[in-house]
Amino acid sequence: TNPVTRAYRYHGMVLLNVHLLCGSLQHWAQFRGRPSDVIVASFPKSGTTWLQEIVWRVVHRETGAQSGGGRTLEYRFPLLDLPATERMAMTPLHEMESPRLIKTHLMYHLLPESVHTSGAKVLYVSRDPRDVCVSYYHFQRMVDYERYRGTFAEFRDKFVRGEVMNGPYREHVRGYRDHSDHVLCLTYEELHEDRVAAVLRVAEFLDKPLTQEEAQAIAIHTDFENMKKNPGCNFKHWEQTQMVKTTDEGTFMRKGQVGDWRNYFTEEENNAFMKWANEPIQ
Ligand code: A3P
Repeated sequence: TNPVTRAYRYHGMVLLNVHLLCGSLQHWAQFRGRPSDVIVASFPKSGTTWLQEIVWRVVHRETGAQSGGGRTLEYRFPLLDLPATERMAMTPLHEMESPRLIKTHLMYHLLPESVHTSGAKVLYVSRDPRDVCVSYYHFQRMVDYERYRGTFAEFRDKFVRGEVMNGPYREHVRGYRDHSDHVLCLTYEELHEDRVAAVLRVAEFLDKPLTQEEAQAIAIHTDFENMKKNPGCNFKHWEQTQMVKTTDEGTFMRKGQVGDWRNYFTEEENNAFMKWANEPIQ
């Protein structure tokens, strides 16, 4: 295996060696939160990009077809988990203007202390673990740093064992849900079901009131087909970069459905998976 992408556990979370090599631990320790920071947290493939795009639009009151002047979400809404210097000439977090919008896949207990003491606002999105697992399987086949080539069944076993990057899944979700008194917890499924209501919840949580018309416009421009067309958030540019070389596997904006897992699980596999999903965490 590639030493850079070798996985290991750090305080109960699966990270890649790349985190250590880039000095991520020091980067997290040095992070200084601001009261105006907005943090979107998630387990990968749970609807992170979707919620990021909604949050960006709510904060900037952007109701048109494009967002962020066409700048891609990675630059508008950078990742906390790796230092900026390692990633495509991004502005380091401490040099960004407020309000900073920041993405993270860190588990709750690994968030820098300053996130909590600064009064930064944290939103978390989760998704049916069966759909997360299917989406993650395709993603890991697609990205160059993983190039996963095992079967789906093998991937699902790894997911259940908590061995996939940023896992374990159940503990990840639990960490944030246990703090839902101050973390706004949303689900992928509710973004599907009633996006206008979800947009209004986000707006209220961020103290950025919107009219019903503005919320409706944001809901329309963040539906799957529109986001897929928007170069600011569809990650198409990855296909020209180092991130994705195996485009035969498809695109970042893959299916965007609730329940795609039905195409991957037999009834028996589903029962076993849901037994695991619903078991109390030790
Ligand atoms: P699928 O692989 O099931 O299609 P994340 O941003 O956390 O990595 O999640 C990516 C998943 O969210 C992908 O799921 C992607 O298609 C889906 N997604 C992104 N934007 C979406 C939208 N506007 N509507 C529905 N699904 C969306």
